[in-house]
Amino acid sequence: MASFHRVADVAEIPDPGKTLVEVDGDMVALFHVEGVFYAIDDVCTHDGGPLADGELRDHKIACPRHGAKFDIRTGAALSMPAVRSTRAHDVKVEDGGVWVRLRAEAGAGGPPLHGTIATPAVAAPPATPATPTAAGPAAAAGSAAAVAAGEAGPLCEDRVREILKEVKDPELFVNIVDLGLIYGVTLSPSADVPGKQHVAIDMTMTSPACPAGPQLIADTKRCVGASPEVAAVEVRIVMEPPWTPDRMTDAARDQLGIF
Ligand code: FES
Repeated sequence: MASFHRVADVAEIPDPGKTLVEVDGDMVALFHVEGVFYAIDDVCTHDGGPLADGELRDHKIACPRHGAKFDIRTGAALSMPAVRSTRAHDVKVEDGGVWVRLRAEAGAGGPPLHGTIATPAVAAPPATPATPTAAGPAAAAGSAAAVAAGEAGPLCEDRVREILKEVKDPELFVNIVDLGLIYGVTLSPSADVPGKQHVAIDMTMTSPACPAGPQLIADTKRCVGASPEVAAVEVRIVMEPPWTPDRMTDAARDQLGIF
């Protein structure tokens, strides 16, 4: 079994406060909240974001990259886009120092030990459930068809953006427009099909290795290409400037529970 390592002096870390420490070669985010120390991996399970750099509020830390929140007491993922817990480690206070013992894996070995004062057992809160749109897939499909069929007027950038709202991230269940993934929409007369439009869409991803990327591109082409006024749809992936949670609309932030 791993042993405890002294990682900091108690007086070094304000309350509330956080710091980054190394334990047996692993980077660990150490927190001090209401007189109790907690330790979790400095790794967001969404895409490796550095949790120690995030915003600490009460017992929650927000990943600075895309806003997923974790419970510092248990490592539980509390909000999208993270769905898996990060590792929580054992912590004790002894001889004026904070000591951390690594756990083998997330959720292993019962509740984490914490130092300084008695810590009530904390059950892992459930991850925020993904909520499909209230209207449901069938209604959404109908809406998309109506827009694509030209019921909302001649094709223009605004209409394309409305159509794109039917494309939803398969993990987050938020449409790609409200997520802030659409950087640009350009319409130009088709060189191949007279009277129709070539639509170029500049789209980004929440992370370079976003597993939903191929599906989002395919759904975008399918939805926009369904318009009778469209001859071709070109999706250009752009990673500059990088996507951040600031690009989301308030509706998307509410849906994902991001403060
Ligand atoms: S890397 Fe943490 S939310 Fe994406």
